[in-house]
Amino acid sequence: MSYLASVSSRDRLRLRLDGLLMTSPDPPPTRGRSLRSTIFSSGELRLELAERDVPKPDGNEVVVAVQASPINPSDLGVLLGAVAPGTLRADGLDLVGTVPEAVLPLYRDRLDKPLPVGNEGAGTVIAAGPDAATLIGRRVALFGGSMWADYRVVDAAAVVELPGDVSIAEGAGLFINPLTALSMVETMRVEGHKALVHTAAASNLGQMLVRICAADGIGLVNIVRRAEQTQVLRDLGAIYVVDSSQPDFADRLTQSIRETGATLAFDAIGGGSSAGEILTAMERAQPPLAAYTPYGTTVHKQVYIYGSLDVSPTVIQRSFGLTWSVGGYLLTTALARLGAEAVGRMRARVLAEAKTTFASGYAQRIGLREVLRPEVLAVFTRRSTGTKYLIDPSSDRST
Ligand SMILES: NC(=O)c1ccc[n+]([C@@H]2O[C@H](COP(=O)([O-])OP(=O)(O)OC[C@H]3O[C@@H](n4cnc5c(N)ncnc54)[C@H](OP(=O)(O)O)[C@@H]3O)[C@@H](O)[C@H]2O)c1
Repeated sequence: MSYLASVSSRDRLRLRLDGLLMTSPDPPPTRGRSLRSTIFSSGELRLELAERDVPKPDGNEVVVAVQASPINPSDLGVLLGAVAPGTLRADGLDLVGTVPEAVLPLYRDRLDKPLPVGNEGAGTVIAAGPDAATLIGRRVALFGGSMWADYRVVDAAAVVELPGDVSIAEGAGLFINPLTALSMVETMRVEGHKALVHTAAASNLGQMLVRICAADGIGLVNIVRRAEQTQVLRDLGAIYVVDSSQPDFADRLTQSIRETGATLAFDAIGGGSSAGEILTAMERAQPPLAAYTPYGTTVHKQVYIYGSLDVSPTVIQRSFGLTWSVGGYLLTTALARLGAEAVGRMRARVLAEAKTTFASGYAQRIGLREVLRPEVLAVFTRRSTGTKYLIDPSSDRST
């Protein structure tokens, strides 16, 4: 078996590897960094860059040199747990903090285990087992976990080769948010709804959903919380944008729902009154009942909570009859429910529209070590519009 060169510098890694380095006699890397997050039984949270062996690829396995991985809200959950704000501080090269004792039982299944972080990313295949040797030198994206690392060893079936015109940075976020946004539209169809409501709608995912719905002619009511976010979405083609900070929010939400006919909502906020306000507006948007009943209309109203941007309790003030439902929503579960044909179609669309519908903007590109700098972490953990960071481990890899 022949291996691609051990990629040892940022510039070299960024070369188009196809062919050029294929003949290098250097062995593949045997060690690499991996970011680990541990919550100890004592309540200490420790983030560290652990040096680990890079396993030699077997059979159909490939070694991907990771060059880009976005910092998504779901990664922050694994990275930080419910660490108390203000307790994070540097400890040598590590970052440590404290998880309040009262919430430690929530983390029972991860206590004292160093967890890898980083759901998705992209990079270059630098070594492979004999059955996947043709992938050496290919630029690939993957959704395999443990991506905040120098190298990731996975089965070749788990990687998707990037089209020639899609950069590695563009390929890094082509799974979670694009597939979640598309799955929302598929779910809408499967469950018999005709339009959608979406909260925290100026998010990276929300902007993708605006583009999808504009292209596909689907009614979408976008809920934002700042005036400037309204313009961001209008510039992308959004028709209905309602600002929850405005005094006429409830009326405008009801009117937008009436005009679109939306009976399905995806709520990224989760905590507070968001889900209940949407259900109330959906009920009020229905035509008046010919004969009064205290049970409300028979129109089914569904809210899926799919994020935890607000971790406070979900408060539902029930003022919308009894034909409604609130449930959780997770991409992997949704994909399993939608089935292989739909997933294949969605993946093909994501690749074809990687530079348009599913393009992500990144505020900053940082190395792995910078993730552990308190002042850098303070920015990307805000989860604010336009502060999504991209990690490029190759930018501060020493060997
Ligand atoms: N369930 C799943 O399978 C799944 C899959 C993918 C994504 N998600 C979820 O999708 C959401 C969006 O992800 P993303 O990567 O697109 O996020 P993102 O680009 O980081 O954007 C986060 C957005 O949320 C807004 N926001 C933050 N805290 C908020 C709050 N308390 N109330 C209202 N708005 C708030 C921010 O607006 P400001 O600028 O006003 O702060 C920003 O526009 C996240 O919650 C993520 O966990 C879930």
